[in-house]
Amino acid sequence: MAGYRNKGKSGFMGWVDDRFPATAMWEDHLSKYYAPKNFNFWYFFGSLAMLMLVNQIITGIWLTMSYNPSAEGAFASVEYIMRDVDYGWLLRYLHSTGASAFFCVVYLHMFRGMMYGSYRKPRELIWLFGMAIYLALMAEAFMGYLLPWGQMSYWGAAVIVSLFQAVPFVGPELAEWIRGDYLISGVTLNRFFSLHVVALPIVLLALVVLHIIALHEVGSNNPDGIEIKENKDENGVPLDGIPFHPYYTVKDIVGVVVFLFVFCIIVFFFPEGGGYLIEAPNFEPANPLKTPPHIAPVWYFTPFYAMLRAIPPIAASQFPGVVVMGGAIAILFVLPWLDRSPVKSIRYKGMFSKVALVIFAVSFVILGYLGVVASTPERTLVAQICTALYFAFFFLMPFYTKMEKTKPVPERVTG
Ligand code: HEM
Repeated sequence: MAGYRNKGKSGFMGWVDDRFPATAMWEDHLSKYYAPKNFNFWYFFGSLAMLMLVNQIITGIWLTMSYNPSAEGAFASVEYIMRDVDYGWLLRYLHSTGASAFFCVVYLHMFRGMMYGSYRKPRELIWLFGMAIYLALMAEAFMGYLLPWGQMSYWGAAVIVSLFQAVPFVGPELAEWIRGDYLISGVTLNRFFSLHVVALPIVLLALVVLHIIALHEVGSNNPDGIEIKENKDENGVPLDGIPFHPYYTVKDIVGVVVFLFVFCIIVFFFPEGGGYLIEAPNFEPANPLKTPPHIAPVWYFTPFYAMLRAIPPIAASQFPGVVVMGGAIAILFVLPWLDRSPVKSIRYKGMFSKVALVIFAVSFVILGYLGVVASTPERTLVAQICTALYFAFFFLMPFYTKMEKTKPVPERVTG
């Protein structure tokens, strides 16, 4: 009996299709997946995020072959990878630069979604899976950063884990449970290693699969925010759609080549990124008795870190700052339900939405900068203003998107 999704192939593929929907999957997700024909530059970042995920997994597997996850051996094993393992330096720099590049493309990917209203009905689940990916990615990066067991690895982890101490009632026990010890120690390193190399990559991969399944169920949005499925030809093919393969597979290769060009320049010529990609104190082994003068997370966490520092403690408790920082991420989850505009894309939204999005993006970048540098009273004030603007973007969204005057949306995509 033929497999029920046999697409009529004979020979070897027919034999396979009788047992596994290979041709059906190829058609559903590539050769007969119709994507809007007006994708622009911003649509490169989904495939680039996938490329970075693959890069992190492959280089990570090879690094694990020579890395020693113990407080006594970790730092030296990284030095060994850098000096003695064949191409070990390349594996490490591809992985460390890859982490920053991954966040860079994911931030641009998220911003694209915000510009074109890709989170709006019927794509809420794509967005929610994306947010889950973002959380998992932050956990993955945070735990990975402890592994070289340098000064910043150690103290960065110490600062972040101690934040859990601020949780009312259970705080101290919670922080101790995360560390598995009274201080960050080899026990913490072992569990972070296990989560970093096994658990979280599985979670990330699974979430990316769900993200793409949800995307292919409803179809991609586009810079015009128009549903291409509303205009189909007699065969049911969207008039403004083109098969993903070969058109976008080939187009994505262009993005990949340009991206890899920039990525390789950084990997080969500026792997430390002036201290922004690999921080200077991390060239010193972790020392629990010596706190570095200035502790700052890597750039991709600094917008949230700046918010944390901007909120003054109450009765010596940092809990308010922790709540604000957590809230800044949590509020992104409900974005699909805050936007009440009759149109999706920023192209057809009114002045308020446009100005709000620019202010939001600028505040986020300024916060990112403020989180890198040491705090002063003036900088704290700027961070407070930017934090307020960040939240205002979301809290006021139901109002400005509802009341502003929008432009008429064309029937078909404009290219
Ligand atoms: C490992 C990280 C991620 C990977 C590999 C990934 C992959 C992809 C791919 C391949 C696409 C289709 C191509 C494109 O539209 O660019 C896509 C679409 C999308 N992603 Fe992601 N993504 C990731 C993270 C995220 C995050 C963090 C969010 C937001 C919170 C997000 C939200 C979206 C949305 C809303 C779409 C639909 C865009 C549209 O149709 O206009 N993704 N993603």
